Amino acid sequence: MSEATIAIIGGTGFYKFLDGAKEVEVSTPYGETSAPISIAEVAGQKVAFLPRHGRNHDYLPANVPYRANLWALKEIGVRQIVAFNTVGSLQREYRKGDFVLVDQFVDRTTGRADTFFEGSAAAHISSAVPYCGRMRSLAAEALVGADATVHPSGTMVVIQGPRFSTTAESRWFSSQGWHLVNMTQYPEVVLARELELCYANLSYITDYDVAAAEVIAGEEAEAVSHEGVLKAFSADSDRVLDIVRRLVKALPESVEGVDCGCQTALSGART
Ligand code: ADE
Repeated sequence: MSEATIAIIGGTGFYKFLDGAKEVEVSTPYGETSAPISIAEVAGQKVAFLPRHGRNHDYLPANVPYRANLWALKEIGVRQIVAFNTVGSLQREYRKGDFVLVDQFVDRTTGRADTFFEGSAAAHISSAVPYCGRMRSLAAEALVGADATVHPSGTMVVIQGPRFSTTAESRWFSSQGWHLVNMTQYPEVVLARELELCYANLSYITDYDVAAAEVIAGEEAEAVSHEGVLKAFSADSDRVLDIVRRLVKALPESVEGVDCGCQTALSGART
């Protein structure tokens, strides 16, 4: 009997989601999870919540125990994950306060443990379509009518951090046509795929990264800072939580028999 089949992974500023939750600690071959996993009912469904950075922002982006987190969620029965991220915008049409259902990433991180399959157990999953298309479509439908601008797609460049980008880096990312920048989407997304989990990303734009701020005049475009990211999230957290709840409600409890390809991501990936 699974504890929960759906999970939310919270990002910067998003450390609590469920009231009256039960907590479970799962031991994993990859060490401790970022925090105990909270489980409670949302719209009649058992939902797990895990704050990616820990409850008190204990982990820097490169040090988040991504493998332990994903492994533990699968262990308690989770099969669909909504990963929430706060992100910076690289393009003027992606505005502060907008939501994005990210569909592609560019990895600019280094040295992070990004596979469960090491040595002779190697596996080579496809990353061509890294996010669950079925979940993205359900999410896009569920968010029609919500009090929010939701972009149905977007490419996110994931930087190593913890520092923000230089002007030259940010101009380069923007000139490539990439839409968003963040520090934690990689390797979480590919680890979920290696575990054959359905995984979708919901990003919330907290700031304009350097390049976008250069072309957007006015106070809303002031340079990115950690304080600014936290402030933007907390000023809008009720709306964010409403959007996340709508999204959870749209997901089926079970993915048995569902044909989105995530459950067979390892087919043909191993030697
Ligand atoms: N997270 C939120 N805003 C960001 C930015 N501008 N760069 C990197 N990560 C971010």
